[in-house]
Amino acid sequence: MPPFGLRLCFTLCFVPFAYASRSPANFQVVQSSNKLDTTATTPGFGLNSALLYRTTGSQKSVRLNKDAIANEYDPSTKNEQSLPASFDWRNYQPAVISPVKNQGACGSCWTFAASECAESAYALKTGKLVDLSEQQILDCTPNPDHCGGTGGCSGGTAEIAYQHMAATSSGGLSSEWTYPYVSGKGANQTCQKEPHVVANVKAYNFLPPNSKDAALKSMLVRLGPVAVAVDASSWSSYKGGVFECKPTDVKLNHAVQLVGYGTTDDGTDYWTIRNSWSPQWGEDGYIRIKRDDSQCDIDDVPTEGQGCASGPTSVKVCGHCGINYDAVVPIVEDQSHIQ
Ligand SMILES: *[C@@H]1O[C@H](CO)[C@@H](O)[C@H](O)[C@H]1NC(C)=O
Repeated sequence: MPPFGLRLCFTLCFVPFAYASRSPANFQVVQSSNKLDTTATTPGFGLNSALLYRTTGSQKSVRLNKDAIANEYDPSTKNEQSLPASFDWRNYQPAVISPVKNQGACGSCWTFAASECAESAYALKTGKLVDLSEQQILDCTPNPDHCGGTGGCSGGTAEIAYQHMAATSSGGLSSEWTYPYVSGKGANQTCQKEPHVVANVKAYNFLPPNSKDAALKSMLVRLGPVAVAVDASSWSSYKGGVFECKPTDVKLNHAVQLVGYGTTDDGTDYWTIRNSWSPQWGEDGYIRIKRDDSQCDIDDVPTEGQGCASGPTSVKVCGHCGINYDAVVPIVEDQSHIQ
C-alpha cells in the first residue's frame, strides 16, 4: 500500500503526492533496507571508461553531421565485447553525478533529466561537476508543439530543452546557484534573459525508438549518463530492489537520468536510474528496474511522455516502464571561461 495518496501532477512528470508536497521535516522517511548495490561495478573500470570517452567522444562514435543538432548514435561501429558486465557512473572519478534533487509539485522532471545529463556531459568534458539550472530550462524553453506537455511545470522533454539551447546563440546553462530552482510548489517563473552561462549545449545524440539494450548500454558507457523517458505511474511505493513494470498499460509520463546497469546475484538484469523525487525515495533517490528489451506495449497517450501534439496518437514502447523508447545524451561546450 502506498504510504500516502497519489496525485498525477501534470502531463509529463509523474510525481507521487508524498514526495511532491511533504517537506523533509514532516515527511516520514521510509528508509530503504536495500543499500546501493556497490558490487555492480567492474573495479577499475573508471579509467578504461575515461579512455573510451575521450577517444570515441571526439569524432567517430558521435558521427556529428556538421550542422545537425540531433545526431543518431550508431553503436554498430563499436566493439561491444569491451562493454563491462556492469557499470555505474556514480563510481566514476572525478565525479560526474551531482546529488539527487527534488522536483516538488511541478511537472518539471524533464528539466531535471536535461540538466542532470548536461551536468554529467560537462563534468566528463572538463573534470568539473557543477550543478546546472533546472529553473532556467523550465523558464526559458518554449514548447509550441506541446511535446510531453505544454511547457514549464506543465511538462516537456529533455530533447526540446537541448534543441532550444542548441538553437539559441546565447543558449547555455547557468549554474544552480546563480539560477536556483524555485518552482517546487508548481508555479512557472519568467525567463531571466542574461543568465551566467557555464555549459553550452550545442547538440545531442539520440537512439532510434526502442533500440536494443545493447545499444542503450553502449550509449551510456561511451557517451555518458542518458536522459530517458519512463512510465513512473507505479514507482511511488518503491523502496528498493529491482522493480518490474507491468507489461500492460505502459504510458510514458516521466523523464529521468539513466546512470548504470548490472545483474543481481540471482541473475536479474537491471538498469540503475536516478530520479528527482528526493534522496528519501527509493534506493537513496535511485531505482533499479528490470532490463529486458523484449517487453513491449502500446502507449496510447504519447503526448504525456515524449510525444508532440503533431505526432502519432499511439506508439510502441519497449523495455520495462518503456525505458528503451527514448534516449538522449547532450553534447556540451565549456562556456565558463567567457564570463
Ligand atoms: C507553465 O508554462 C507553460 C508554458 O507557457 C504553460 O503552457 C503552462 O500552462 C504553465 N503551467 C502552469 C502550471 O502555470
